Amino acid sequence: MGVCQTLLDPSLHSPEVRDFEAALRRRVVGQDRAVKSLARAYQVYLAGLAPPGRPLVNLLLLGPTGSGKTRLVEAAAESVLGDIRALVKVDCAEFQHSHEIAKLIGSPPGYLGHRETQPLITQEALEQYHTEKVKLSLVLFDEIEKASDALWQLLLGILDKATLTLGDNRRVDFSRTMIFLTSNLGTLEVNKLMTGRMGFGTKPEEGSDDLDRRIYRTALEAARRKFSPEFMNRIDKVIVFRALQRPHLERILDIELGFVQERVMTATNSQFVFKCTEAARDFLLREGTDPKLGARHLKRAIEKHLVFPLSNLLATRQIELGDLITVDFDAASLKLMFFKERQGALVGSQREVAEEMPIVLPSSHAAGAVRALARRAPRD
Ligand SMILES: Nc1ncnc2c1ncn2[C@@H]1O[C@H](COP(=O)(O)OP(=O)(O)OP(=O)(O)O)[C@@H](O)[C@H]1O
Ligand SMILES: [Mg+2]
Repeated sequence: MGVCQTLLDPSLHSPEVRDFEAALRRRVVGQDRAVKSLARAYQVYLAGLAPPGRPLVNLLLLGPTGSGKTRLVEAAAESVLGDIRALVKVDCAEFQHSHEIAKLIGSPPGYLGHRETQPLITQEALEQYHTEKVKLSLVLFDEIEKASDALWQLLLGILDKATLTLGDNRRVDFSRTMIFLTSNLGTLEVNKLMTGRMGFGTKPEEGSDDLDRRIYRTALEAARRKFSPEFMNRIDKVIVFRALQRPHLERILDIELGFVQERVMTATNSQFVFKCTEAARDFLLREGTDPKLGARHLKRAIEKHLVFPLSNLLATRQIELGDLITVDFDAASLKLMFFKERQGALVGSQREVAEEMPIVLPSSHAAGAVRALARRAPRD
């Protein structure tokens, strides 16, 4: 009997996972390793090979503040379950005292307030956003270094056995759950390692694998010093987020501007399109970033310098349906300036919209709103 062998390719992902990865990359900048780890875990789930009796994956996310840890997990929830609210988020800093644990798991029957305390984590909460196709939950424990001993005990049980016993003895099953734990531990040490090698605002971090490895090791050692071996042994993978550099922040600015354009297209009844000049983008980047805070302030700067003025312009009808607005920076007043290029240019004009739409919109919903604007009957 002849043997006919075919070489198989185990590195291929299914289309769902490729879409998932692409969705994460559209939202999260510069954290490739983290994206790949999530994609692998999701592929295991979709193939039906999730380990029985334990969570699908336990990931420890380390790295500086404002580097995209929470953003990544939110993007994963949105991509897998269609809604950012599908993410169950536990802020460990809120449960530092033993009595606060009741907020998380409810108090035992008979205790004062038993009926009033709705536990934060229940089976229903985990499954609320499940769909016909995807029955996967995502749970994020933020700032775990602040967790009380009581919370640690619960956490260890979840990570190991995928179960949590509530105050009233009901059990919550965490198999079919991706668990994320975040911490800023090791940031100081990693920053020290980076100082002098690449200043904030220079080249992207690509390149030195060696530096990459040292950063990873430094963060990992900090975690090992702080967390017990029984905890670390339950972690499937430690992912260290990199400090963001100027080119990353530029891309994040584009993403955030895309979100503002999306709000304009879906929330107001005077949809318009705005474009920022290089000088305006530079100004927002300067105002919104700080080497110590990553991209955390970018959104705040955008609200303050862009969204507030745009709201005034809309409310006073200086901007109207279909207008094309240019946003520039005025070096004299150190403020953004707003110019109307062409009034109503985008109403009923497919060509104008195709040419002027400056930003790739984050959701198809907003892109649909833009197309609807282009299809409207032109104004006379
Ligand atoms: N890598 C990134 N890609 C895209 N956006 C990012 C990234 N990092 C930060 N941001 C932006 O900054 C905001 C704050 O980031 P995020 O909440 O993910 O920080 P974090 O790493 O969780 O910080 P912390 O340790 O303080 O919780 C995000 O909402 C997003 O707007
Ligand atoms: Mg966070």
